[in-house]
Amino acid sequence: MAETNISSGGRPTLPMQGVPQPSRDEVLNLPRVHISTHPVMAHKMTALRDKNTQPPEFYRLVKEIGALLAYEATSSLALDRLPIETPMGPMIGQRLAGGIGVTPILRAGLGLAEAFREVIPDVQVWHLGLRRDENTLQAMEYYNQLPHRVDLQVCYAVDPMLATGGSAIDAINILKRRGIPRLSYVGIIAAPYGLLKLAQTHPDIDIFIAALDESLNDRGYIVPGLGDAGDRQFGTV
Ligand code: PRP
Ligand code: URA
Repeated sequence: MAETNISSGGRPTLPMQGVPQPSRDEVLNLPRVHISTHPVMAHKMTALRDKNTQPPEFYRLVKEIGALLAYEATSSLALDRLPIETPMGPMIGQRLAGGIGVTPILRAGLGLAEAFREVIPDVQVWHLGLRRDENTLQAMEYYNQLPHRVDLQVCYAVDPMLATGGSAIDAINILKRRGIPRLSYVGIIAAPYGLLKLAQTHPDIDIFIAALDESLNDRGYIVPGLGDAGDRQFGTV
């Protein structure tokens, strides 16, 4: 992913320094990329980004934003017919078809996964731990609880921050190896750099985000962004 930039003494420097980045306008109309334009989302995003928003409120907002994203990302799911009886008589209802999975990329993806569970209580949750090395910006897998038996029709990889795209690309690679027929990525904020990398590497997935920001800073953080999504959710700032 991002070019590394380690000084001769082995001391880490600024991994994104001097790395060319696409502009926001260059990635606005990528195929299969869905960026929210909903005013309620914009309202909640402002509260989320505010540096004065404390972890309990931050986590609550991640879940609310996640529920809106889940609603959007699941809008084309297949349905089966389901005959039921209402108090007034029989009718043919509908239910979601097939297994639906959500893969939180730990740890920051946990709030979004919880939001998916609130929207669709019987989703399977497949935990995947990826940690971004802050010096090289490479993602490293440290935890994998993906089941051996795959009975999903669709799986959503969820993670609030799409920065260089390394974590998201690796997560989708890992899920693809499981042979799940349909995959999507759901995030809160993307940088143009990571969004372009993810869309180019995995053109066969849908990408849903709440906001597209301006750029990455030299350390690989999204600007204006919201800081560290994991720390802000779990109070480890
Ligand atoms: C953050 C974030 C993403 C990743 C994004 O996680 O939640 O997983 O960085 O960066 P990338 O697009 O450049 O890969 P981090 O590795 O800091 O772990 P955490 O969730 O435990 O805080
Ligand atoms: N991870 C975060 O939590 N925030 C960023 O801005 C980039 C990566």
